[in-house]
Amino acid sequence: MNEYIDELICEPFALQKFIRESEKVRNDICPSIGKEAGQLLYFLTKLTKAKNIMEIGTSIGYSTIWLAYAIKDFNGKIDTIEASERLSSEAKLNINALDLGEYVDFHVGFGEEIINTLKKTYDLIFIDSSTKSYKFLYEKSINKLKSGGLIIFEDVLFPSLEKRQIQKVMMDELNKMILEDNRVEKCFLNIGDGLLICLKK
Ligand SMILES: C[S@@+](CC[C@H](N)C(=O)[O-])C[C@H]1O[C@@H](n2cnc3c(N)ncnc32)[C@H](O)[C@@H]1O
Repeated sequence: MNEYIDELICEPFALQKFIRESEKVRNDICPSIGKEAGQLLYFLTKLTKAKNIMEIGTSIGYSTIWLAYAIKDFNGKIDTIEASERLSSEAKLNINALDLGEYVDFHVGFGEEIINTLKKTYDLIFIDSSTKSYKFLYEKSINKLKSGGLIIFEDVLFPSLEKRQIQKVMMDELNKMILEDNRVEKCFLNIGDGLLICLKK
């Protein structure tokens, strides 16, 4: 089944496949979202006609490429935040190589700090950084999200995995906190390590 869906999902750029393949042999980057999650980000951006997107956790730009390719038609902009200067620079090279640079502003630093310096409100916020900051980032993000906007978290199904003992506790707390939050509608998806989509009322 997974191999079949893999065949069906076409990445818009060959560079994306190269990034995923290179992750298998590099040990200086953490894994990108998969193709299914990438396709969903692209689809939701198109569906909601998102013009302003924030991403926390750029790495070398795999997910940013999906978002930028979708936002291009609306002449939108992505603020993407990465703690590592080296990875952010590599992401910038990747995005520029695909002529998507005009749609992306790169910010280097911790999401918890950079988010305070961004003055826009957003249509979509994608959070894929370190689980320990997710609760904090959720509160900050919801205040920067338009009504009808989406916050999307990656890795929310860590609690169902055996391998991530520390993260699973933090993720479980986040999931339960959001479940009780009446400001948002929630949708959990078993894609990759788990996605949670929150729709601000
Ligand atoms: C899973 S990777 C992101 C993958 C990327 N979203 C993709 O799918 O291509 C997580 C990234 O978040 C960065 N990171 C971790 N904690 C962070 C924080 N507090 N603020 C900003 N970036 C952070 C890490 O350096 C790492 O590159």
